[in-house]
Amino acid sequence: MTDISRILVVGSGAMGSQIGMVCALSGYEVRVQDISTDSLDRAEAQLHSRIDRNVEKGRLSAEERDAAFARMTFTTDLAEAAKDVDFVIEAAVEKLDIKRELFARLDELCPEHAILTSNSSSFVPSRIADATGRPDRVCNMHFFNPALVMKCVEVVRGEQTSDATIEATVELTKSLGKLPVLLEKEINGFVANRILTEIRREALFLVDGGYASVEAVDIACKSALGHPMGPFELQDLTGLDIGYYAAMGRFADSGDPADKPAESLAKRVEAGHLGRKAGRGWYVYDESGNRVGVNDAWS
Ligand SMILES: NC(=O)c1ccc[n+]([C@@H]2O[C@H](COP(=O)([O-])OP(=O)(O)OC[C@H]3O[C@@H](n4cnc5c(N)ncnc54)[C@H](O)[C@@H]3O)[C@@H](O)[C@H]2O)c1
Repeated sequence: MTDISRILVVGSGAMGSQIGMVCALSGYEVRVQDISTDSLDRAEAQLHSRIDRNVEKGRLSAEERDAAFARMTFTTDLAEAAKDVDFVIEAAVEKLDIKRELFARLDELCPEHAILTSNSSSFVPSRIADATGRPDRVCNMHFFNPALVMKCVEVVRGEQTSDATIEATVELTKSLGKLPVLLEKEINGFVANRILTEIRREALFLVDGGYASVEAVDIACKSALGHPMGPFELQDLTGLDIGYYAAMGRFADSGDPADKPAESLAKRVEAGHLGRKAGRGWYVYDESGNRVGVNDAWS
């Protein structure tokens, strides 16, 4: 198995920042790279305040926190960050052309032995692997949001992924204190999101058809089905754009109009109502992130 000690996380948004922290907390030397200095600064500040809260609550010692941050570097310089890493977790924006371009560059910049993985929610490994000269060392390593908390990581084998790559990725997942769920064969959306997609489709059908409100659907899913969050609350947390681009990807693949994003989702994304990160999505949030009501911009 590949010996992994240095990990590069590409993208420092909602997912990349927390994935980097998970790795640093587990003892790995971590480089977090992004094209945006604003995003890197925000990531570092948010991680400090989040991890400080964990220290205050006694979940982590101040020494463990300091040691984890000492293992992390934040940079815009991809070449410098990639040159001696053993493993890459790409968590940049969910756009296929950007990911393919990134993987082609990573293939040039990373050492020969390095495994290149994507945290993509919807693009299967074979959509990305052929942009590199090492398709046997490419797979998906799909974390869930928030990555510091959620235990599941889906490891997805592409058509050309080697057993050694899968083995190393599964072992790395376990070493991060996560639960690997292995997909032996790639399929769009993987396991958890395929099931979630069907729940969301039905939730939108009920709201768009005027059968029930956004709040009513969320309450039913929580109080009748035992879900920790309703489908609209969860979309606000993960970002409406993520679900929108995932649906566009499914539609591009299948050509099936049923896979197209619902009109009510598309108009929110077009207006920038992307969920919590934008202060409004299906619900509206105040400056401290507290929910203050339903977003009735189109009612
Ligand atoms: N948000 C979720 O709930 C969730 C869950 C699981 C997986 N994912 C996946 O994780 C990935 C990132 O999602 P996110 O929610 O963190 O997005 P985000 O919008 O919060 O962050 C994306 C980051 O990528 C950076 N970026 C864009 N182009 C780049 C490039 N060429 N090189 C380096 N950085 C670049 C942006 O500056 C931004 O900081 C996506 O592939 C998404 O499908 C998201």
